[in-house]
Amino acid sequence: MDNLEKIVSDALEQFSGINDAAALEQAKAHYLGKSGALTDLLKGLGKLPAEQRREAGSHINAAKDRLEAALARRREALAQLQLDARLAEEALDVTLPGRGAGRGRLHPLTRTQDRIEAIFRSIGFDVADGPEIETDWNNFTALNNPENHPARSMQDTFYVENKDAAGRPLLLRTHTSPMQVRYARMHAPPLKVIAPGRTYRVDSDATHSPMFHQVEGLWIDEDVSFADLKGVYTDFLRRFFETDELEVRFRPSFFPFTEPSAEIDMAFGAGPNKGQWLEISGAGQVHPSVIRNFGLDPERYIGFAFGSGIERLAMLRYGIHDLRLFYDGDLRFLQQFA
Ligand code: DAH
Repeated sequence: MDNLEKIVSDALEQFSGINDAAALEQAKAHYLGKSGALTDLLKGLGKLPAEQRREAGSHINAAKDRLEAALARRREALAQLQLDARLAEEALDVTLPGRGAGRGRLHPLTRTQDRIEAIFRSIGFDVADGPEIETDWNNFTALNNPENHPARSMQDTFYVENKDAAGRPLLLRTHTSPMQVRYARMHAPPLKVIAPGRTYRVDSDATHSPMFHQVEGLWIDEDVSFADLKGVYTDFLRRFFETDELEVRFRPSFFPFTEPSAEIDMAFGAGPNKGQWLEISGAGQVHPSVIRNFGLDPERYIGFAFGSGIERLAMLRYGIHDLRLFYDGDLRFLQQFA
């Protein structure tokens, strides 16, 4: 029976050193399996004299119970170790501060457009929105820009293959001016509206982008004059730039849809282009042919229109020298406009 004690102490020592469930079951087989050490002893009982058999049998069974108990404890310990390891690995420290959502902000052009809308609304202008894909008729013809007229080449654009329901050519609008026509044909005078939005041209440099933004303005009534244009626009600029110290000039110009026509320039007050003039708007007294295309009588209705570059206004307000910065998506640039 010395042998039995040795087997038990070997087994207990081996079990306690095992850290892996599968290895533990293998070790169990080594002692308690079909041809395990204890099983062999049990099998050998038959060879003992009858009077020793009972005692030896109970010793072996007691040893077997000890081993089973030790195995159960070890299994439990291993399961606990495994659980602890998993808990440590998947630990979630709920006391850590959250990562926080990155705070978004409005793009400087959106801020500029919002600001323009707020100012014009406060002086009684409606704000209208229209399609970026326009009919050739609204974009050019109705604005006194006949087919094949050379003035069309001032605004080369992107044509769309599809035609509208009436079979007329479609294009990406080159300016917001077609909104004058759309709005006038849907509303009765007096017409007092601005229409901001995206516009497109085949153009790209520091002050031009193939996609850009304009805001159209239109005021038509029975007695709206060029002087009103100057008054309204100058007042808008003063409020937009929050100063009366503005360098603005109205330069005679040509647009087919206005007569007389002007271009409005403004000088940079700050930034690398300080003192340099930048054209911000076309404007003028709406041409009688265009009033007729609105469906109105040009003998009765008269007024002004303007079409301003939103990027240009933002450049002047923030002292930005290259409008392409607006589209680069560089956060170092964009985050300055809190
Ligand atoms: N649509 C013109 C352009 O994009 C700008 C313009 C000029 C708009 C005169 C007007 C206007 O409303 O009266 O170049």
